[in-house]
Amino acid sequence: MAGPGPSRTEQRKAEHVNIILNENVSAEYNYWNDVHLVHRALPEIDLDEMGREINGNLAKAAAEVGVAMGVGSQRAALEKPELMDTYAVVKEHDVPLRFANLGAPQLIPQGTKRAYGIEDARRAMAMVDAHALIVHLNFLQEVVQPEGDRRAKSVLGAIGKLAAKLPVVAKETGAGISHEVALKLKQAGVKGIDVGGLGGTSFSAVEYYRARKEAQSLKERLGATFWNWGIPTPASVILADVGLPMIATGGVRSGLDVAKGIALGASAAGMAKPMLEAAKVGAEAVVAELLTVIEELKAAMFLVGASDLDDLRATRTIVNRPTADWIDLGKERGA
Ligand SMILES: Cc1cc2nc3c(=O)[nH]c(=O)nc-3n(C[C@H](O)[C@H](O)[C@H](O)COP(=O)(O)O)c2cc1C
Repeated sequence: MAGPGPSRTEQRKAEHVNIILNENVSAEYNYWNDVHLVHRALPEIDLDEMGREINGNLAKAAAEVGVAMGVGSQRAALEKPELMDTYAVVKEHDVPLRFANLGAPQLIPQGTKRAYGIEDARRAMAMVDAHALIVHLNFLQEVVQPEGDRRAKSVLGAIGKLAAKLPVVAKETGAGISHEVALKLKQAGVKGIDVGGLGGTSFSAVEYYRARKEAQSLKERLGATFWNWGIPTPASVILADVGLPMIATGGVRSGLDVAKGIALGASAAGMAKPMLEAAKVGAEAVVAELLTVIEELKAAMFLVGASDLDDLRATRTIVNRPTADWIDLGKERGA
């Protein structure tokens, strides 16, 4: 049982937030800059009339944030029930689509730690009255993290067991999902994929700073070495397309990036760091940021003459190197 004071999991969470807000934890290269939408000088639609789908969906959403929301890993609250309220607060607001979150490494036994099963997953979902459970794949982070879980065998089977009973979305946390892995996840029964690709917040970078603070030189070195490891998000959106709904996260920083993600085949896009920064200021700052992103998305759609998301999905894209190389290589090798 956890004793008094913050647990290791809680402490780690607080450290992550502090590091992300105060240090440079971004991947070096912005892969979204390799993706271009083709301008249409004659859009042949009216700006004010379009995007009804987007505006309708988002305006209907709650007064505060008004879009889908996924909480962070709920392991802390499963370990320490007094933390449940920090997640359950989500239920006090009218968030239209809510995702619970657990880590894939915790679905199998790690050392003396027991594996989470279906009952834990149900508890996590009930905590935020979730529509679906995100299971995050974060083995890059685990391997560079001082106290990381290093066993990954039979994780796919464990995901399959949950997916047989609950709606599961599989998500990477910054290193992207390849075609082969996406196929395996689909066979395991997941209902969606969040590609969580390279290009935004780098958890290797975050762990680098934690290891440095704790004077763990090996982990510090690993964090630095794997700072830019992974499949770029725009490439992963293409490679991981196996016919499941796909969410693009990883370095999405504007509504134009959202438009690019959807043009490449994603169903939706998500942001972590920009929302975290706004949330530090207050709910109003989050609302302002979200409305700005929506305006950018609408502008991008207008400028390619797309009146709804299906139009946007059908729009052509130009993808430069190095992102284009990832896509070619993946297609060649069935990666
Ligand atoms: C402070 C922080 C905590 C995060 N915790 C989780 C988590 O617990 N589970 C998860 O699936 N992803 C987590 N993420 C990963 C994000 O959801 C996202 O995939 C990644 O940060 C890339 O997005 P970004 O570049 O917009 O920050 C976290 C991100 C941040 C910034």
